[in-house]
Amino acid sequence: MRFGWIEAAALTAASVVSADELAYSPPFYPSPWANGQGDWASAYERAVAIVSQMTLAEKVNLTTGTGWELEKCVGQTGGVPRLGIPGMCGQDSPLGVRDSDYNSAFPAGINIGATWDKNLAYLRGQAMGQEFSDKGADFQLGPVAGPLGRAPDGGRNWEGFSPDPALTGVLFAETIKGIQDAGVVATAKHFIGYEQEHFREAPEAQGYGYNITESGSANIDDKTMHELYLWPFADAVRAGVGAIMCSYNQINNSYACQNSYALNKLLKGELGFQGFVMSDWEAHHSGASAAMAGLDMSMPGDVVFDSGTSYWGTNLTIGVLNGTVPQWRVDDMAVRIMAAYYKVGRDRLWTPPNFSSWTRDEYGFKYYYSSEGPYEVVNHFVDVRRNHSDLIRRIGADSTVLLKNDGCALPLTGTERKVALIGEDAGSNPYGADGCSDRGCDNGTLAMGWGSGTTEYPYLVTPEQAIQAEVIQNGGTVFAVTDNWAISQMETLAAEATVSLVFVNADSGEGYIDVDGNMGDRNNLTLWGNGDNVIKAAASNCNNTIVIIHSVGPVLVNEWYDHPNVTAILWAGLPGQESGNSLADVLYGRVNPGAKSPFTWGKTRESYQDYLITEPNNGDGAPQEDFTEGVFIDYRGFDKRNETPIYEFGYGLSYTTFNYSQLQVQALNASAYTPASGETEAAPTLGEAGNASDYLYPSGLQRITAFIYPWLNSTDLEASSGDSSYGQSSDFLPEGATDGSAQPILPAGGGPGGNPALYDDLIQVSVTIKNTGDIAGDEIPQLYVSLGGPDEPRIVLRKFDRITLQPSEEYEWTTTLTRRDLSNWDVAAQDWIVTSYPKKVYVGSSSRKLPLRASLPTVQ
Ligand SMILES: *[C@@H]1O[C@H](CO)[C@@H](O)[C@H](O)[C@H]1NC(C)=O
Ligand SMILES: *[C@@H]1O[C@H](CO)[C@@H](O)[C@H](O)[C@H]1NC(C)=O
Ligand SMILES: *[C@@H]1O[C@H](CO)[C@@H](O)[C@H](O)[C@H]1NC(C)=O
Ligand SMILES: *[C@@H]1O[C@H](CO)[C@@H](O)[C@H](O)[C@H]1NC(C)=O
Ligand SMILES: *[C@@H]1O[C@H](CO)[C@@H](O)[C@H](O)[C@H]1NC(C)=O
Ligand SMILES: *[C@@H]1O[C@H](CO)[C@@H](O)[C@H](O)[C@H]1NC(C)=O
Ligand SMILES: *[C@@H]1O[C@H](CO)[C@@H](O)[C@H](O)[C@H]1NC(C)=O
Ligand SMILES: *[C@@H]1O[C@H](CO)[C@@H](O)[C@H](O)[C@H]1NC(C)=O
Ligand SMILES: *[C@@H]1O[C@H](CO)[C@@H](O)[C@H](O)[C@H]1NC(C)=O
Ligand SMILES: *[C@@H]1O[C@H](CO)[C@@H](O)[C@H](O)[C@H]1NC(C)=O
Ligand SMILES: *[C@@H]1O[C@H](CO)[C@@H](O)[C@H](O)[C@H]1NC(C)=O
Repeated sequence: MRFGWIEAAALTAASVVSADELAYSPPFYPSPWANGQGDWASAYERAVAIVSQMTLAEKVNLTTGTGWELEKCVGQTGGVPRLGIPGMCGQDSPLGVRDSDYNSAFPAGINIGATWDKNLAYLRGQAMGQEFSDKGADFQLGPVAGPLGRAPDGGRNWEGFSPDPALTGVLFAETIKGIQDAGVVATAKHFIGYEQEHFREAPEAQGYGYNITESGSANIDDKTMHELYLWPFADAVRAGVGAIMCSYNQINNSYACQNSYALNKLLKGELGFQGFVMSDWEAHHSGASAAMAGLDMSMPGDVVFDSGTSYWGTNLTIGVLNGTVPQWRVDDMAVRIMAAYYKVGRDRLWTPPNFSSWTRDEYGFKYYYSSEGPYEVVNHFVDVRRNHSDLIRRIGADSTVLLKNDGCALPLTGTERKVALIGEDAGSNPYGADGCSDRGCDNGTLAMGWGSGTTEYPYLVTPEQAIQAEVIQNGGTVFAVTDNWAISQMETLAAEATVSLVFVNADSGEGYIDVDGNMGDRNNLTLWGNGDNVIKAAASNCNNTIVIIHSVGPVLVNEWYDHPNVTAILWAGLPGQESGNSLADVLYGRVNPGAKSPFTWGKTRESYQDYLITEPNNGDGAPQEDFTEGVFIDYRGFDKRNETPIYEFGYGLSYTTFNYSQLQVQALNASAYTPASGETEAAPTLGEAGNASDYLYPSGLQRITAFIYPWLNSTDLEASSGDSSYGQSSDFLPEGATDGSAQPILPAGGGPGGNPALYDDLIQVSVTIKNTGDIAGDEIPQLYVSLGGPDEPRIVLRKFDRITLQPSEEYEWTTTLTRRDLSNWDVAAQDWIVTSYPKKVYVGSSSRKLPLRASLPTVQ
């Protein structure tokens, strides 16, 4: 099940029968070394200076976690005490500090997707970064752009922003800037092709009854990779992200954390990534192979949790001493890690973690797993929330999408005499907001999915609490029925109510938790727990039924969305701790909704393509996930199949109205595209490896059980490795893997995020937007382009903004299209190209409401 040290390099051929027929990942070596390009120059220089002073064991220490649950964070590397460099702490999650206390529970990524608001994405990132920094965490394990959201039922889509790569890319980059401006390294994840929970890890799948020997393989063609899944990661690299986490799955039958094509070629070669690649937890499958394929940090460090053994640690020290792994590669790993640390200013802000991920007790053993070391304060209960609740409440309201509003049912006036709150999703989890581990249940109102992408709530304001307080203050009456099977009580209440607010939800999460038979991915796209019947019970008895949906993605609404008594529908996503307050702000009109759906709402399950592989399709080998739909996911697929959605991508109403006019398009003077060329420097080698005798365990060291160290038991390398296949297959390292000489620069490379000329502005577009109603509101102008050609989507989103307009106010929105915005990936040239097909631009308020259109001038 697990690969040995070396043979995994050849795993494509070795691990599966009829390998010829399976998707294959071509080798790409050597692993590019950092050079400090872009705004990395000073951090890189400092990193080189400090790494030059390190011994081999010290460098190895930085690359390898010390083992699962040994120290305080979900992942912690060794340090370099001699030079004052601490072990570094990596902590979940993408929406706040996980496994801690007195932290905020922020809205999920998908809600940021719905805001389409760059500023809010930045502010949320910065606020999260402050909380991580204050808790003593060095790397936040987020944000997420993989999964991107290929499958509407993919379990972890909600951790990211949207299935559209341009919307995701912008919000991903802003989140990263926010986190890193707060002094914490952001970890963009998961790289790449991690679009389903089923079969993401073979051992996990064995746990739920499938005897597969390898993790699933995402088989993605080169064009789709560039134009869809890699796109937001280019934005992340351009934004200066310090870390990228490789994923559990395989890509073309080669594990993501040792896929040289993905890591060496795409990420470090083409995108010029200067930070470090960290493995997902137990996604590391080999020693030298992974090192040469571009992995820089092993997390949590051990081969399997608490095995006390590691593919790296001692083995990596030995691998350099016996000449298998070149010294420059370990130098590069250490430089990348230290450069990220310096780039965000971690050296100025560093404090030891003042919480424990494993217990809420105040006192505990320093080394949790083995109950060893001093018995000391492990939780300082530091409140790091600042005033972030205001921002969380605002994002919750600004991400609430108004899908239907007949006869101005909303906003409520506050004069409603009898308000009915109907549905379990209105109320509290009877087990407590944090009552299910990692939010692994769907009890009460839903404000977060489940899995490692969560935090503990400091509190959770439910819709029932917030709305009840408001109604009482207004002098009305309010009643709640929150048992989803109490249909007759709901009918009675609804029949008497002035307005019925009906709450429904649909949940999903990470594959290690099963909630109601859902192994992470959703089993269906319907509402959970009798939701459709709850809505119908209210709607057949109350002519003013307003439905509020909390969900991880699209749900089927076809049974009731056009019911004449359903006067309004709101999608509130996963709003985090201030859920009820955010919603009340929208319901009572303190906030005019401006959000737009970040995904498509199809009519039926069949309106979507069925992408998830939920039964093994390759014997007991790796299940094969063939991404044959190419770039045609979400709205691009609906457009191609002529499938009319109920609510399209980008759709959302306001309490006011907007008008679009005066589209103007102007070519800008940009110089022609030049493919990058030339060669890199040779790989720098920073110091001598020394001899085995330099790296023996220090005498007198009290070894902690299961702790991963960089040292050797003896000068006998084979014995110190303890590897039964030691030395047997060293020539499996692919050709060129160890070559540290100057290498050609890829044509699409040459700068952070790719060839700098991709980011040249080629065309300027402007439109006039007017608020034609009588209250202030936000509008999100959306610019789509059609790239032309026989195999292209009808339109693709390229630019958007969120603007606030007073009644009758007019605004000229101006934006620019870059070369990347107008390019396709040319597989033969291995470069971006602006094709000669005629191109068009479309501007409007959703992917299907595009009143303005024009041909684009020819550019190159
Ligand atoms: C996967 O295989 C496809 C088809 O040969 C190829 O276009 C693509 O570049 C490969 N990707 C990786 C990461 O190996
Ligand atoms: C490696 O890190 C551990 C944990 O931080 C530390 O105890 C040890 O001294 C470090 N080893 C070296 C060689 O610095
Ligand atoms: C927790 O971290 C903060 C830094 O954010 C530090 O000032 C403080 O000393 C730490 N608190 C404790 C109790 O260790
Ligand atoms: C699982 O598959 C492996 C490899 O084919 C086989 O050796 C093993 O017996 C199988 N285990 C079960 C429980 O079926
Ligand atoms: C070295 O790696 C092999 C797996 O390739 C593992 O079996 C062995 O235990 C490791 N050695 C140490 C000291 O961690
Ligand atoms: C809470 O969730 C658990 C786990 O999903 C479920 O078994 C239980 O029925 C739920 N209880 C209530 C009261 O909702
Ligand atoms: C869909 O799954 C949810 C969660 O398991 C369940 O509550 C619901 O009844 C299912 N829907 C249908 C139509 O089976
Ligand atoms: C709408 O609600 C009214 C009660 O206000 C009810 O009499 C009527 O039957 C409902 N309409 C439908 C189509 O259910
Ligand atoms: C809903 O029914 C009430 C009486 O139950 C009536 O006063 C009101 O006009 C109706 N509203 C609509 C929109 O039909
Ligand atoms: C190294 O020595 C330790 C302590 O004696 C022992 O537990 C461990 O198994 C040894 N490692 C190997 C690979 O022999
Ligand atoms: C070098 O060391 C590594 C790590 O222990 C081992 O896997 C590999 O087989 C060794 N190679 C040689 C040629 O001894």
